[in-house]
Amino acid sequence: MSSPDVCIAGAGIIGLSLALELQSRGARVVVLEQGLPLAEASTAAAGMLAARDPENPPELQSLSELSRALYPRFLDHLFRLSGTTVSFQTSTTLQEVHASHLEADRGLTLLSNETLSILQPQLNTRDRRFILLNEESLDPRELAQALWAAIQATEIEVRSHTPAHFVQTGSSKIEVHTTSEILHPRYVVDCTGAWGLTQLPPGHVLPLPRKGQMLAIQLPPSVPLHLVLRTPDIYIVPRTTGPAAGRAVIGATVEDVGFDKTVHPEDIARLRSAATELLPGIADAVAVETWAGLRPGTSDGLPLLGQVTEQHFISAGHYRNGILLAPATALVMAQILAGERPAVDLGAFTPLRSLHSGIAQP
Ligand code: GLY
Repeated sequence: MSSPDVCIAGAGIIGLSLALELQSRGARVVVLEQGLPLAEASTAAAGMLAARDPENPPELQSLSELSRALYPRFLDHLFRLSGTTVSFQTSTTLQEVHASHLEADRGLTLLSNETLSILQPQLNTRDRRFILLNEESLDPRELAQALWAAIQATEIEVRSHTPAHFVQTGSSKIEVHTTSEILHPRYVVDCTGAWGLTQLPPGHVLPLPRKGQMLAIQLPPSVPLHLVLRTPDIYIVPRTTGPAAGRAVIGATVEDVGFDKTVHPEDIARLRSAATELLPGIADAVAVETWAGLRPGTSDGLPLLGQVTEQHFISAGHYRNGILLAPATALVMAQILAGERPAVDLGAFTPLRSLHSGIAQP
């Protein structure tokens, strides 16, 4: 391909869903990936479309709701290109709330113990208060397979094992350098998440790795689980259909330890113990897998979405919500690249905000 219209750095879910959106609008897109596509946070995630998690910063609400609303269309687009169906695994979440959540949102309806015992038999409700959220979950590994097959059915070019860097030439021109060539796209978009290619001036918010360790267990037949259980500290996410059906994912630690993905048995044991306190029937469940991923976190808990210089854009820092936010992020980034008004106000996500801009801490 001669120089493309848009060069995206990073073939995670954020980069590839943007590539699809741009391609469907007629752009020639090349995606450069330093490793393998969808091999990092995109497939480490639990897959909750947690648009209503009271732990989310309020500034995320409208982007989250838009993205959740776009999900059926996004999955249908993947199906039409790939022939692969991705089904929602669950459609509701039992969320434990604390007093601070109830103060922040007086509209929350607490569930009675009687209702809880019907919704989730064996749930330990002692000293806990729960609300019911309409939120779906999916298996990010299934999503990644469908997304990758969809990309391959298009003319989008994805180059794996191709680290890139952006070189500003003059006041507004940008080049993309790889070890073997120099590209001159009309626009570049940094979707490298925690790996962040974009050099922002000191004092600006940056995406940095925030490690999450997790495990998967085989649910015992005596513990039916058809919804997500989530507290401010942990979650239990069942897989109800597809190759992982019968398992549940338990997560996750939140650690600032750089690019280290080591799994520590004592951390996994702590997650297991917290999950067992919530759902005692899983005490003897067999652990089938453990892993760690690197979320792209920012100091204010909000992504960086927008323009850095005339040709240079960034879409990164989706922290715990990359799977949820991918469809809406692809849409709004495609809109701003096209010079259109984005579907939601992106003011809180401006990449040029400073660390002390007063945006709420996560
Ligand atoms: N998306 C769930 C987590 O960050 O642990």
